[in-house]
Amino acid sequence: MKTQLFCAPLQGYTDVVWREAHNAVFGGVDCYYGSLLRLERGELRRHDRRDIDPQANASLPRFVPQLLGGAADAAVAIAVALRDMGYTEVDINLGCPHPPLALHHKGSGLLPYPDELRRMAEALAAVDGLRYSVKMRLGWDDDSQWRDALPALEPLHPVHVTVHPRIGRQGYRGELSLGQMEALIDACPWPVIYNGELQTLDNINDVIGRFPAVAGVMVGRALVADPALLVPERATARHYRDFHDRLFEGYRSRLTGGDHQLLSKMQSLWQYFLPNSPRRALKAIAKARTLDAYLAAATQCLP
Ligand SMILES: Cc1cc2nc3c(=O)[nH]c(=O)nc-3n(C[C@H](O)[C@H](O)[C@H](O)COP(=O)(O)O)c2cc1C
Repeated sequence: MKTQLFCAPLQGYTDVVWREAHNAVFGGVDCYYGSLLRLERGELRRHDRRDIDPQANASLPRFVPQLLGGAADAAVAIAVALRDMGYTEVDINLGCPHPPLALHHKGSGLLPYPDELRRMAEALAAVDGLRYSVKMRLGWDDDSQWRDALPALEPLHPVHVTVHPRIGRQGYRGELSLGQMEALIDACPWPVIYNGELQTLDNINDVIGRFPAVAGVMVGRALVADPALLVPERATARHYRDFHDRLFEGYRSRLTGGDHQLLSKMQSLWQYFLPNSPRRALKAIAKARTLDAYLAAATQCLP
């Protein structure tokens, strides 16, 4: 079977406007994943609901929303809300390293607590009409915590488990534990997707060579940096400009906060986008106070 290529969720970056533009201009992704959803005063935030609106994501080859793993009742409430929107598959986030969440046993912070994890898994498995995938790390503060966490996921029979081979405490930097990754792939009864630090097509091929049992790979930051990563034949000036203009227009029509909000949204994109652009132009983007100044600087970065 062909290795599946997945787009990782990056909250604030790979939102619905980005996904739509990415798929239309570049593509090469088999499935896009949504950013973690959590409850605020017992409900999904309006902004989050709009991001996962099935109609708005209908042009994608596949889109799977994601709930933040944590207490069973909160996870079930999100799962039911997603099912009621028409979704049949949901990804469960057991990877988020953000300490305010992790210290409350959410995201990767749930990994050291197999009993709580199993309670959540059982409660989610009891929701009719949904199947699940899991996105996890090796642990929160120890890279062998997956050994007790994986069996706790049994009630879910996940369609696959995506693994970022770090612990939560590392955030998004530091060494990858590839030895533990290998052991996890051997021990995991479900298909495993590899995620982490894939920067080039060669990196992807190396990972598939090193871990031939993986069912797919998931790419995050490098795809935001270079949206043509998976389709190098589209790495042309025309495609990058088209992509940028679709983002600009897409955010202009969706954001209600006027020019200022549009400007900061576009500026934040460039924290990852086209990092090899001229440094002076990237600085000018960050400093722009008007959309005209922004566009003038962005033009110098777009190839
Ligand atoms: C700014 C940012 C936001 C992220 N948001 C999410 C998220 O909402 N859900 C999730 O599962 N992972 C999230 N991640 C993790 C990525 O999906 C991915 O696992 C991580 O970046 C490692 O892959 P990479 O090296 O290819 O970027 C986020 C990462 C970053 C840097």
